[in-house]
Amino acid sequence: MCGITGYIGKNNAIKVVMDGLESLEYRGYDSAGIAYICDNKLNIIKEEGKIINLKNSIDFNTKSSLAIGHTRWATHGIPSKTNSHPHSSNKFIVVHNGIIENYLELKEELLKNDYKFESDTDTEVACAYIDFLYKSDKNILSVLNKASKIFKGSYAFGIICTDDLNHLYALKKTSPLIIAFGNDENYIASDIPAILKYTNKYMLLDDYEIAKIESSKIEVYDSNMNLVDKKILEFEGSIESSIKCGYEHFMLKEIHEESEVFVNTVKNYLDDNFKNIPDLSKYNKFHIVACGSAYHAGLIGKYLIEKYSNIPTLVEVASEYRYKKNFYDENTLVILISQSGETIDTLACLLKAKSDNIDTLSIVNVFGSSIARESKYVLYTKAGCEIAVATTKAYLAQITLLALITMYLTNNKDIETKYISKLIDEEINKTYEDISLYISKCKNVFFIGRGIDYALGMEGALKLKEISYINASAYPAGELKHGTISLIEEGTPVIAISTDNSLLEKTISNIKEVKARGAKVIFITTSKIDGDFYDYKIEIPKINDLLQSIITIIPLQIIAYEVAKYLGCDIDKPRNLAKSVTVE
Ligand code: F6R
Repeated sequence: MCGITGYIGKNNAIKVVMDGLESLEYRGYDSAGIAYICDNKLNIIKEEGKIINLKNSIDFNTKSSLAIGHTRWATHGIPSKTNSHPHSSNKFIVVHNGIIENYLELKEELLKNDYKFESDTDTEVACAYIDFLYKSDKNILSVLNKASKIFKGSYAFGIICTDDLNHLYALKKTSPLIIAFGNDENYIASDIPAILKYTNKYMLLDDYEIAKIESSKIEVYDSNMNLVDKKILEFEGSIESSIKCGYEHFMLKEIHEESEVFVNTVKNYLDDNFKNIPDLSKYNKFHIVACGSAYHAGLIGKYLIEKYSNIPTLVEVASEYRYKKNFYDENTLVILISQSGETIDTLACLLKAKSDNIDTLSIVNVFGSSIARESKYVLYTKAGCEIAVATTKAYLAQITLLALITMYLTNNKDIETKYISKLIDEEINKTYEDISLYISKCKNVFFIGRGIDYALGMEGALKLKEISYINASAYPAGELKHGTISLIEEGTPVIAISTDNSLLEKTISNIKEVKARGAKVIFITTSKIDGDFYDYKIEIPKINDLLQSIITIIPLQIIAYEVAKYLGCDIDKPRNLAKSVTVE
């Protein structure tokens, strides 16, 4: 979703802000813009489409020490130059991430006060409203404090006021914003990759806080206008974690990091006898809540927890869970899974459970993110910075951690980390070119499996469709004949997954049903069985049931990647998608 960068200092502000925007490209966007001050004059340049369009419109030799930039993922109004940020109104220029829910109400008030609007955005209204408040109160901090109480919804703002060109301002609620430190230069950004080229020291802005930033000083005020003593954090990862390191795409690089991610996640929880896992003995029910791939990881968690620890586990998509009646009590633990830690629906479920006094545990990848900060317990996945919009290594870390939680619940510490990481290494280096080429020419693909293999099929289908734009759906293997089998034609690819020997015969019967109707069957299995019921066989190693999914998911990720590559798709930044979904 939208990305914000801002800079004040001795360096070339335009270059720093544009570098930052490029590092935030992974979040997904459809237009970009920059506002900078040169010779005390404001300049705003915006372009639709990729950042390169904006770069081509900028003179990088222009001297500026104060700038804010933005990548926009359209919410209010179509992707266009007019709707893109920065927006300005008289004395104020803003970039914004999030949604101002009461903007129509504010707009009405502003229209009555002779404000005019060019765009369809909530952001232009917010900017004008700040300017409107400033007309009767010339103290910028107090104006921003008032605005933060009036604006409903979620927001992170970078703000310049033409009456005070020695400062860059920022404020936030729900949407993430960091402030980073340099030597006589300071930065704001939506996420860490935007500043890593310049510094790894940063602080997290909390809700309703306002930052007043000059090149050699940062002041942060709380909602009562008291100065806050902020904790300075240091990002541990390297800049390599946010660059491609010779791989053609971040997605491929991230798949290739999976064995390391597995080892790091296991190490963090197992090496110290599960010391980092809180006491979960009082809970007799789990509710796992998440979106997209994180939801699919939750389904794996349900299978494992219910099978091995006998604790009933409900898994729900966050955007549904937040609006339904939830049957939880003091012995229920609500588990939120999120790579970014910022997904708004998942966060809303967490806050709902919290306000009902229900304990919460989050499984999060991004350190210090909103979901991590709001939950009672946090277990971090150790996937490192994930840039490709389609998650791979973070999903693998989530299912690893869910397996570890199951092991903790059953007091099982038996895991052959080295052996499994070697197997992961072998699997990530395999290619499936014939299969992928075949699929790339098809319109529909089906994934079938039983039990945990069905949950993996759902993730495989999502991966394929989001990056290759080929329609893909997953079904429980036994369910096809209840309707969907009518879609199977001569040559329709069906990816059948079978890793559970106790269900193998049943799944093979279902495969035969589709084969008889002309399906091209790709059989992914741990079994040695051969026959004429498949067209391609991908044999994967059989490991401990608890961790089998970690191996099984890899060919599905690689096939999705290869198909998208054959089709020439924008693999790391699929159309319409965003890495961090901060709107409902
Ligand atoms: C798919 C994908 C998304 C995310 C979902 C939740 O490849 O990445 O489906 O899993 O948007 O995001 P997080 O995990 O950040 O809450």
